[in-house]
Amino acid sequence: MSALIELDRVSKSFSRGGLFSTRRVEAVKEVSFALDADKPEIFTVIGESGSGKSTLARMILGIHAPSSGQVRLGGRDVATYERRAFMAEVQPIFQNPFEAFNPLKRLDRYLFMTAERFGGATGTSAVDGSVDEALRQVGLSLPEIKGRFPHELSGGQLQRVAIARALVAKPRLIVADEPVSMIDASLRMSIVNLFGRLRDELGLSIVYITHDLATAYYISDRLIIMQQGVVVEQGPARAVLSAPTHPYSRQLRDAVLTPDSAGAFRATHSRKAAETPGARS
Ligand SMILES: Nc1ncnc2c1ncn2[C@@H]1O[C@H](COP(=O)(O)OP(=O)(O)OP(=O)(O)O)[C@@H](O)[C@H]1O
Ligand SMILES: [Mg+2]
Repeated sequence: MSALIELDRVSKSFSRGGLFSTRRVEAVKEVSFALDADKPEIFTVIGESGSGKSTLARMILGIHAPSSGQVRLGGRDVATYERRAFMAEVQPIFQNPFEAFNPLKRLDRYLFMTAERFGGATGTSAVDGSVDEALRQVGLSLPEIKGRFPHELSGGQLQRVAIARALVAKPRLIVADEPVSMIDASLRMSIVNLFGRLRDELGLSIVYITHDLATAYYISDRLIIMQQGVVVEQGPARAVLSAPTHPYSRQLRDAVLTPDSAGAFRATHSRKAAETPGARS
């Protein structure tokens, strides 16, 4: 297999300075996995708060250097990439779309800039064309977004713009850190379904970081479960969640099956049916 992205025993520790002592926090410990360049997938990272998910995401994105181990993109250490070349291949999506955009800046500016800087588009009509195409892939369009400011959109719409901005760069990998957790529960499944379409139609691989088990179970091809920086379980999503071997993954499985989350799951499914033209609600 030729790997798109490969983590080779990646660890990250932080030192936390107190007044009289400094202690090391091992946020991520010896995590290894690889995504196949020829087989796009949604690779999910699940874990409770503080388990090291965002630290892992930042290392994949080249924002944090690992304390030990290596992250490779196309076989090459991420640290050796020129930033622009790297961002043309790997794009982030963050939790809070309102923080991702400056409130005083028009949204189309971000998209145009990304198209020029990372997407290789030159000239007004090529730039407009590629921005419109990316927006249409997320169910929006350039005429709808042109000239608008972040506060004029809902959180769900704004997260779609953030996804479109990532797509404009024409990346091979998207790293999405809790992309649905700030979004109204009723819209979560539509964003997650969008990830599935991007995988199937554009051949994009997605590292999907979440603590939302229902969406993870529904959309993931493979997943890892992290606890205190360590991968405690990994494998195909259905296999892991239907036959968990680690006590922590058993707890997670049971959480998926609580009436509350099962209800949310059913509700999103029936809403999906209702959105389909011609479907009866
Ligand atoms: N820049 C930093 N400096 C010091 N400690 C950090 C830093 N970033 C993360 N940590 C610590 O590393 C551990 C893992 O944090 P991380 O943000 O990766 O967890 P997470 O799984 O993303 O949590 P959440 O679900 O709350 O987003 C935590 O103990 C956190 O306090
Ligand atoms: Mg986090």
